[in-house]
Amino acid sequence: MMTPNRVAVVTGANKGIGYFIALQLGMSGLFSNIILGCRDVQRGTTAANQIQALVQSKADTKIEFSPLVIGDEATHSTFCEKMKKEFGKVDVLVNNAGFAYKGVDPTPFEGQTEKTLSINYFGLVDFTQKMLPLVRKGSDPRIVNVASMAGRLGQVSSELQKKFSEDSLTIDELNTLMNQFKSGVQAGTYKADGWSSSNYGMSKLGVIAATKIWARQEPTIKINACCPGYCATDMSSHKGSRSAQDGAKNAVIPATTENPPTGEFFRDYEISTW
Ligand SMILES: NC(=O)c1ccc[n+]([C@@H]2O[C@H](COP(=O)([O-])OP(=O)(O)OC[C@H]3O[C@@H](n4cnc5c(N)ncnc54)[C@H](OP(=O)(O)O)[C@@H]3O)[C@@H](O)[C@H]2O)c1
Repeated sequence: MMTPNRVAVVTGANKGIGYFIALQLGMSGLFSNIILGCRDVQRGTTAANQIQALVQSKADTKIEFSPLVIGDEATHSTFCEKMKKEFGKVDVLVNNAGFAYKGVDPTPFEGQTEKTLSINYFGLVDFTQKMLPLVRKGSDPRIVNVASMAGRLGQVSSELQKKFSEDSLTIDELNTLMNQFKSGVQAGTYKADGWSSSNYGMSKLGVIAATKIWARQEPTIKINACCPGYCATDMSSHKGSRSAQDGAKNAVIPATTENPPTGEFFRDYEISTW
């Protein structure tokens, strides 16, 4: 089978939902190359080999691992340079890598804010900004940001809801808002100031807000966010009611469907409200 010369990147693809996003993109036959951006060489290489073995009977797609630590800006740059040198473009970027503290983790709330935001929000934003020049060069280019229902707008005050959903909001202004949340947590004033009482929820709210900003700023790229649903993965200690395979479809649909919308939030396999 001839596979079109299209390149997809999936972050955090060595396990869980990201693994199945990469596998399903591979099985689609729409890509010549799929790159798993993972932080561990062993885990990334093993997953790439497994996906390659599953895909090769279906499609002529090369599955590769490339080192990437979301939140480590030096690795963001190295990864982008590699993509530029090897392919000169990226057609589909799925920002799936994410982190959540377990409920039983003894780290206090204010000690969890920095790490949660630096991976899920600030890391994703920096990596995406660095990838945008390559995605602009893609054919029918797409970005899908794996967020969560936990990122719902209603978790912050109505005053903050207006700021986050303002049509003129920029990434710099959004970064400022996210830093204000961090400062509020450290000062102990975040609840009184109308912020969420969930670090993870705030990180995903930021991802959905960033998705909408990029969708406005990048008319040639279809940029959407999604919630995979409550999935049985390591993140949920395998308590989720949905399989990772099914959860992955919520990212694969906006990444592959013909004429997708842009700036939307997908949930349960269709467009949903924020
Ligand atoms: N599971 C759910 O119910 C659920 C619900 C809503 C949203 N989500 C979102 O779905 C996405 C995937 O979650 P999952 O359930 O599949 O979680 P998971 O099983 O814990 O997998 C997370 C993946 O992200 C990678 N990762 C974490 N931090 C990273 C970093 N700094 N740099 C690079 N890779 C990193 C992990 O790599 P390592 O193997 O090296 O740790 C792993 O490959 C996340 O964005 C999550 O927030 C999940």
